[in-house]
Amino acid sequence: MDLYEYQARDLFESHGVPVLRGITVTTAEEAGAAAKELGTPVVVVKAQVKTGGRGKAGGVKIAKSPEEAAEKAGEILGMDIKGHTVRKVMIAEGADIAEEYYFSLLLDRANRCYLAMCSVEGGMDIETLAEERPEALAKVQVDPLVGIDRAKADEIVAAANFREEDRAKIAEVLVTLGEVYAKEDATLVEVNPLIKTADGRIIALDGKVTLDGNAEFRQPHHLELHDIDATDPLEIKAKEKNLNYVKLDGNVGVIGNGAGLVMSTLDVVAYAGEEFPGKPSPANFLDIGGGANAEVMAAGLDVILGDEQVKAVLVNVFGGITACDAVADGIVQAYAILESQGIEPKPLVVRLDGNNAELGRKILDEANLPGLERVDTMDGAARRVAELASQA
Ligand SMILES: Nc1ncnc2c1ncn2[C@@H]1O[C@H](COP(=O)(O)OP(=O)(O)OP(=O)(O)O)[C@@H](O)[C@H]1O
Ligand SMILES: [Mg+2]
Repeated sequence: MDLYEYQARDLFESHGVPVLRGITVTTAEEAGAAAKELGTPVVVVKAQVKTGGRGKAGGVKIAKSPEEAAEKAGEILGMDIKGHTVRKVMIAEGADIAEEYYFSLLLDRANRCYLAMCSVEGGMDIETLAEERPEALAKVQVDPLVGIDRAKADEIVAAANFREEDRAKIAEVLVTLGEVYAKEDATLVEVNPLIKTADGRIIALDGKVTLDGNAEFRQPHHLELHDIDATDPLEIKAKEKNLNYVKLDGNVGVIGNGAGLVMSTLDVVAYAGEEFPGKPSPANFLDIGGGANAEVMAAGLDVILGDEQVKAVLVNVFGGITACDAVADGIVQAYAILESQGIEPKPLVVRLDGNNAELGRKILDEANLPGLERVDTMDGAARRVAELASQA
């Protein structure tokens, strides 16, 4: 999960990383009031969007009075930055910047460690710097079992060639950023720019943090950071039911067991859809996993049938540890559960293969569920569901 700058700022603050005061608001009036509350001669109005390059897009503006802050906020709110609509702005204290640096800490999967990157030349486009003058960007491996201790921080600031007199102060801040990374189960902590103020303070002026969703079980407070407004309501519902669901734009609901099978089902449905009017395509990714019992199947169908765009559904299951008869039983029970909840079925194509396929097919045939068709090959099932979606 990527955080907004203001969320990263708050997280930094809670771990002792020096940051500036900032107040996040959603209207121009509130922006004026926030600037007044901060009371500094200069404030900066900053678009809160989960994408880079806000400054270049006109999403970071200086204001010298509360009135001007309100005016600038009015301009920035509603702005589109790389396809992201600005709904919030942070009013931040203006800093007297002497120098801008760059620091990031991320997961280096290939080398099974963390990688710290640091440069005395921050603020600008770091990708350009990395490409044009890679020697100006220090890269230092960090042992995940140790993290950024003081010795490692000293190594990083030396590699980045900071002036001797600045090194100790910067290293101290890098230690706190390393703590954010480790204690919050982050996969990225980036500060661009990390600044030195005219009076010599080191401050994280802009932060990007990505948190590891797999760690949410031990980071319950991360749930509060989810951006409910920007998340699809079906995805929220699926998350509540612990389903691996991703909303797509098509009209064919897809359920399968195993991420690989579901991925290839999406491809096959999209391919089959090419032949039919309106070109039906997948409406979602949904992996119900290995132990697909009736409740999981019902939960999956419930989420998919709740998608108004869905015209037909394909259930593609390859029986393994959970055999096809158990899956077929699950589908039959799921129908009963959905019926009892008053949820309307939609045309459903089921393809069962693998362990106990014959038995599973027999169960479905005998149940004779309304709108359910059985097709025993993956290509055939994809063609049929595309046809049904196209007719609906
Ligand atoms: N509080 C502030 N006080 C003074 N100057 C600021 C402040 N915040 C940002 N700036 C200036 O604006 C520049 C861009 O700000 P920032 O890094 O927050 O946005 P950005 O880099 O455009 O966004 P992103 O990192 O999302 O690409 C900074 O490099 C800095 O020079
Ligand atoms: Mg930046």
